[in-house]
Amino acid sequence: MNKPTPANQTQAQAHLPVARPDDKERAVIIRTRNLRKSYRMGQVVTEALRGIDVELYRGEFICVMGPSGSGKSTFFNMVGGLDSPTSGRVFIDEVDVAQLSAVELAFLRCRKIGYIFQTYNLVQYLTALENVTVPMAFAGVSGDEARQRGLALLDLVGLKERWFHKPIEMSGGQQQRTAIARSMSNNPAILLCDEPTGNLDLRTGSEIHQILKRLNKERGVTIICATHDHRLISMADRIMWIRDGQVERIVNRSEVTVETGSIEGQENE
Ligand SMILES: Nc1ncnc2c1ncn2[C@@H]1O[C@H](COP(=O)(O)OP(=O)(O)OP(=O)(O)O)[C@@H](O)[C@H]1O
Ligand SMILES: [Mg+2]
Repeated sequence: MNKPTPANQTQAQAHLPVARPDDKERAVIIRTRNLRKSYRMGQVVTEALRGIDVELYRGEFICVMGPSGSGKSTFFNMVGGLDSPTSGRVFIDEVDVAQLSAVELAFLRCRKIGYIFQTYNLVQYLTALENVTVPMAFAGVSGDEARQRGLALLDLVGLKERWFHKPIEMSGGQQQRTAIARSMSNNPAILLCDEPTGNLDLRTGSEIHQILKRLNKERGVTIICATHDHRLISMADRIMWIRDGQVERIVNRSEVTVETGSIEGQENE
């Protein structure tokens, strides 16, 4: 276990406008230190992340905003352990992810973090229930227990009666609700949501908002959500803006007025 020390905190951190949550007692669940990611394609190098230093708190709901290409998904891939940074560190519960063995990293991804994507990413030939229980099998839960837990999760998202439907037989909102149930299959502490309502209409999007809000308030799940959806942003504890691979600012939501189509002090993106 490697704890970051003041010596390895970067200069950038000291000057960044960063608000802590209103509840200042919260423990840090994700910490990044000078996180950088470059992609090379032939002769072209894209610096997707250029030194991200953030602390995200257990139980908070934080929305991540920024123009297309600013590095939001790249940031998610790094903190979710789906890809490795070019340099810098990610700590989850103060454990340096880079120090984990392949097995430990797989355990972290399976147990600690749930993922929700804009395009749902369900397995097309599996039923809703099978989609939800697949990650349980990876965690060693199968058979009747997995089935019971899967049905309870589908019930939580209002889809218990449709457990036998395959993705093609479900609407976009139903598929995303199934994906949320799947993301919760191993009771993760963190949900990473990358544009979860990006493909949904307003009403269907609202159903997803309510489910995420419940998971945050009732189960204490830390929700980190890339979105442009102002109704989702209005539920957040904090809002973080990323621009050109760097954190531009982090504010408490209570400090800004969120209205449909705009956020005070920030142009639409
Ligand atoms: N696998 C990759 N190979 C090469 N370049 C990549 C790769 N993934 C992302 N990039 C580049 O990194 C930059 C950041 O991309 P990223 O997907 O993180 O942006 P984003 O903020 O999520 O954008 P959007 O809002 O459109 O989803 C972009 O310039 C993108 O083209
Ligand atoms: Mg993205």
